[in-house]
Amino acid sequence: MTPHKRIPGHRFLHSPGPTRVPDEVMDAMRRQPMDLADPRLEHVIQACETGLKALLQTTADVFMYACNGHGAWEAVIANLLAPGQKVLIAGTGHFSESWAIQAEAMGAQVIRTPWREGYPIDVQAIEAALRADTSHAIVAVFVVHTDTASGMTSEPGKVRQALDATAHPALLVVDVVASLGAAPFVMDAVGANVVLGASQKGLMVPPGLAFVAADAAAMKVAAANPSPRFYWDWARRQSPLCYRKFCGTPPQSLLFGLEAALGLIFHEGVGEVIARHQLIAGAVQAAVDAWSEGGALELFVREPAARSVSVTTVSVNAGIDPEALRTVAREQFQVAIAGGLGPLAGRTFRIGHLGDMNPAMILGCLAGVEAAMQVQGISIGSGGVQHAVAALASKR
Ligand SMILES: Cc1ncc(COP(=O)(O)O)c(C=O)c1O
Repeated sequence: MTPHKRIPGHRFLHSPGPTRVPDEVMDAMRRQPMDLADPRLEHVIQACETGLKALLQTTADVFMYACNGHGAWEAVIANLLAPGQKVLIAGTGHFSESWAIQAEAMGAQVIRTPWREGYPIDVQAIEAALRADTSHAIVAVFVVHTDTASGMTSEPGKVRQALDATAHPALLVVDVVASLGAAPFVMDAVGANVVLGASQKGLMVPPGLAFVAADAAAMKVAAANPSPRFYWDWARRQSPLCYRKFCGTPPQSLLFGLEAALGLIFHEGVGEVIARHQLIAGAVQAAVDAWSEGGALELFVREPAARSVSVTTVSVNAGIDPEALRTVAREQFQVAIAGGLGPLAGRTFRIGHLGDMNPAMILGCLAGVEAAMQVQGISIGSGGVQHAVAALASKR
């Protein structure tokens, strides 16, 4: 089959980002660009800022960037950390490690807490590192809420408790790239000082737009940080003029899309969106549990409560090639799933189930993955899809 051959019907995108873009968002992005003084553009930008604040449930300042998640990481590092300063990064897997490597590349000194495969962040190790830092040299603690490679969601609120218990002044910075619009997260109630996210996952917008929300404490740390920066600089972006706010021309089409996507989320209701993600994730986990009876694969995350509602990571036995499985799923059954990342490459595959997703879509995905596993001769327990059907039916 050549990649260019037209495949009839719907192709199922089950990567954990980029995710499917709803028609309403596609339609909104069809608008022509506006001149930068057009008040309608100002209105769209304000709607995006207000919507993101409402979704995060915060009064913090929101800064949007024409960039991906790595850009938002860079914005946080550039504003908060001068070269040589210390940051504590909670080990969650591939994404905490990637963020750590980026911080080191920008001159920060990174203290890592260990990551135990299949388990959420080690809060005791974080607390111990904070207690050991008697001079309060650690400027911030970085936490990835949902590590998209591990398929695991940690509790940033526990890190806030550790900061409070040790009376440590470090800022709490949370990456909600893979969890926003899917898992519950209330920035101000959690006590996060900075939160960052990107457009292409639960927000249901194409890649290319990211944001940071920074509270007063974070803005104070940034103001005192002497390290040179320009594009990412929060102070420079605090302006009512859109050209200043975006440090140049705003990514208008993506903003039109974000306004529409936030409208969809609020129209459905944030609670309903979260419940829908929980329902669908439960169906995926039920299917994988049933498949695991065949002895060839299992759910990667050991603690059920830490299993992400956005993405499910499945570990496979040695000898099974997840990349070959992905190819069969994509080319023969039109289901695009994701592979393993970092230390999990070659040992796992991932099913993304966030964003513009409904029960019928996930059943189609699971059936396609099951069929691909049959083609590949992978030993799976019977009734995976039926278990998913039962999980969906039991909650309705
Ligand atoms: C949790 C998390 N943080 C950060 C990133 C980096 O985002 P990007 O790929 O848009 O640079 C990703 C990407 O998947 C992610 O899942």
